[in-house]
Amino acid sequence: MNFWLQRWADGRTAWHQHAGSSALRRHWRLRRGSVLVPLCGKSVDLRWLAEHGHSVVGVELAEQGIRAFFEEQGLEFEERGASFVATELPITIHYGDYFEFEGVQCDALYDRAALIALPPDRRAAYVEHTNSLLAPDAERFVITLEYDETRAEGPPYSVLPGEVKELFPMLEELERTDALAEAPPKFREAGIETFTEVVWR
Ligand SMILES: C[S@@+](CC[C@H](N)C(=O)[O-])C[C@H]1O[C@@H](n2cnc3c(N)ncnc32)[C@H](O)[C@@H]1O
Repeated sequence: MNFWLQRWADGRTAWHQHAGSSALRRHWRLRRGSVLVPLCGKSVDLRWLAEHGHSVVGVELAEQGIRAFFEEQGLEFEERGASFVATELPITIHYGDYFEFEGVQCDALYDRAALIALPPDRRAAYVEHTNSLLAPDAERFVITLEYDETRAEGPPYSVLPGEVKELFPMLEELERTDALAEAPPKFREAGIETFTEVVWR
């Protein structure tokens, strides 16, 4: 966890997409209900989801990231205990360790750079905990990455289809796109030529 706090403190947040996820905009099909966004960072997708009919529940370890979200989005918020609640849009970001967060049953999951931010030995616990925060028939939307892990190390980690299907048996692959141009420099420096984003729902 210190790793992530240090990244925020150093301003090293290269995972952040200023325009949000194009995959979300292409493939998200719901227009109501609550959406859980684990490890949400300062993602502009929180705002996109709220503007497309959802109440949004983010969870983030770095208070700095939560404050950056509201500041960069120009949104007013109220602090209620460990929750940062937007006043103009239905967005609440809970501050703290995701694995200790409880008390919601959301209608959908939006996971971009959450599962793939976790090392292999944390993923099963992540999925079990995530399932406990979702309604039984919740839609799950997950974006993963694939690359040759013998050449460079995560995060972001490469999570291959076999593991995705083991963790989330209900998911189907929707799309795979070449994401080499957006890969962190360490991957290109390691000579990686194939870096693929995979969308699951
Ligand atoms: C790779 S970033 C992705 C952020 C966001 N999903 C996005 O797409 O921009 C991972 C984020 O998870 C947060 N994080 C890591 N471990 C966490 C934990 N145990 N609980 C809550 N947040 C965590 C980090 O602080 C970081 O902001």
